[in-house]
Amino acid sequence: MPTVVSGIRSTGNLHLGNYFGAVKNFIEMQNEHNTYFFIADFHSLTTHPTPADLHINVKQVMAEYLACGIDPDKATIFVQSDVPEIPELYLLLNMNAYLGELERTTSFKDKARQQPDNVNAGLLTYPVLMAADIIIHKANLVPVGKDQEQNLEMARTFARRFNRMYNVETFPIPRPYTFEGKDMVKIPGLDGSGKMGKSEGNAIALAESPESIRKKVMRAVTDTGPTEDNQQKPEVIKNLFTLMEVVSTPDTVAHGDLKKQLAEDIITFTTPIRTSIEDIVKDEEYLSKVARNGAEKARASASKTLQEVREIIGFRKFY
Ligand code: TRP
Repeated sequence: MPTVVSGIRSTGNLHLGNYFGAVKNFIEMQNEHNTYFFIADFHSLTTHPTPADLHINVKQVMAEYLACGIDPDKATIFVQSDVPEIPELYLLLNMNAYLGELERTTSFKDKARQQPDNVNAGLLTYPVLMAADIIIHKANLVPVGKDQEQNLEMARTFARRFNRMYNVETFPIPRPYTFEGKDMVKIPGLDGSGKMGKSEGNAIALAESPESIRKKVMRAVTDTGPTEDNQQKPEVIKNLFTLMEVVSTPDTVAHGDLKKQLAEDIITFTTPIRTSIEDIVKDEEYLSKVARNGAEKARASASKTLQEVREIIGFRKFY
């Protein structure tokens, strides 16, 4: 059974685009693969969150993924910082990661541009940590979006480099797993500008309140309104129809007041997820049980790999 590893950004607030573009597929993967999903809280330190924010964000993300249907009995869901084997492997991989190749990655260049006063070494070695995340479980597959393809390519490079350097086959070379194809739906933003994204400000979060959903949908297009306008504003109205296709039942599509209908259908869709998020966030006992079990399973797998790696490198016990 192939092993799948995926890191989840620890900033929370999953939106409809995340759900239909990625999370839904994650949840299907847990049935057929040996899956490890983790919250990448070490990675989040590159932007220097406050201790309180760091903790709250991890909790929220954990609750959101669980509410969406990641099943801790099927998948291993864990918090990255609970697995000290990851930073150890990261340290070891860093010795064979070169300044030139790290500086050339687009994500580094983008981040360096976005935060010119905080171009720290963690930002530079972000792909090395990501490689450690992946190969510590000897992953075969990594579900990634377009923006992470280059980072995954680096992980493949570091895995290959280790194998070649020591003439071993310790690490499988992880392959990207893309969901493009059959069921993939690109969720448009409310502003008609293409993709729904958190930073674009055109998203509806799964945890969003019904009032806020109504407001956002009503403001979604600036023309005078519903369906009779769709000849004049095809690209904008089309976005609303695409959203409807995922949240509405087929017979409701294209009837009545489009925006009103869409808002209510989104609310119907998100309400069970939202209430579940709220319940889980409050349930400290459940969260701690999930995190503890996840950490245990992840560490069992990680320490096995790390022991092998230490031995190969030449760290052999004197005692
Ligand atoms: N870099 C990924 C992102 O920004 C998150 C991530 C960290 C990740 N480690 C990973 C994804 C390992 C896949 C595998 O979304």
